Amino acid sequence: MDAQEIEALRRAALADLAAAADPDALEQARVAHLGRRSPLAAAQKELGALDADERRRVGALLNALKGDLTTAHAERRDELGAAALRERLEAERLDLTGPARRPRPGRPHLLTQVEHEIVDVFTGLGFRVAEGPEVESGRYNFDLLNIPPEHPARGTMDTIYVDETADVVLRTHTSPVQVRTMLTQEPPLAVVCPGRVYRADAVDATHSPVFTQVEGLLVAEGVSMAHLRGTLLAFARALFGDDREVRLRPSFFPFTEPSAEVDVSYASASGWLEILGAGMVDPAVLTACGIDPERYSGFAFGIGVERVAMLRHGVTDIRDLYDADARFLAAF
Ligand code: DAH
Repeated sequence: MDAQEIEALRRAALADLAAAADPDALEQARVAHLGRRSPLAAAQKELGALDADERRRVGALLNALKGDLTTAHAERRDELGAAALRERLEAERLDLTGPARRPRPGRPHLLTQVEHEIVDVFTGLGFRVAEGPEVESGRYNFDLLNIPPEHPARGTMDTIYVDETADVVLRTHTSPVQVRTMLTQEPPLAVVCPGRVYRADAVDATHSPVFTQVEGLLVAEGVSMAHLRGTLLAFARALFGDDREVRLRPSFFPFTEPSAEVDVSYASASGWLEILGAGMVDPAVLTACGIDPERYSGFAFGIGVERVAMLRHGVTDIRDLYDADARFLAAF
């Protein structure tokens, strides 16, 4: 092979390597020009047939050719690799100027929102938050609240007993937290007690065996029904609107005397909605809880959170508050 032929080989090989548009084509060009069956390999095999001078001269040319082709191949391989990377980056490019997908943050359930609103009204008036256990002794749930064993209220409350002989119940109301507070704190005291309560009621549009109350209790010297009324008026207006009025109707609870059902006026029509029970703490309850009824008096109230939530938001079936239907949840 003479120098001219070697130059022709070089040009053809470099052109093929440079023209290879992808890794497969490049590999074909490599096999064709640098592989075991390439003209270059054949020429190198034929070197042995040449005389020593010729062999040295042509051998050097072929080696130089092989070196150049190897370098050209490596360069083309790197170019193709870089191009592929650029292409991928382009394809996977993120458009950060596009509109963002809206996050859907979670939020408290309607019942929790209303419970917090109620509690906030009273903490704003200076009440503290107190809590008690849901598994409660009958003594706190009933006896110390002036509801003796044979009292009909025990039957009407459909108590769920945890252990009847040990007198352990699921609390039927949050009023036992009143007892716990009076047994451990000296007047003046003012607490609100939010929490779950339990009754063996069948489920329907207005009943659930588990529901939520916020109990209130204020004991100090010289507390009167007027303080109760003013406090409840502030509560009703905070939750239902500044134009609302409250009305106290005589009622009965074993732990208050006198007792009242409290109504809030409708916004539109001239009507009243019952929102809670309340009263002046019965002196017998104060005495049982170690507070001198000659010196102190107090008022108490019990708010049904579900009822307030339903009235305020036009919910007609209490089950909607527990079903976790996404359409309902999304509305609040
Ligand atoms: N404990 C009563 C109930 O669950 C609600 C209640 C009424 C609580 C009057 C009170 C109150 O503190 O004074 O039906």
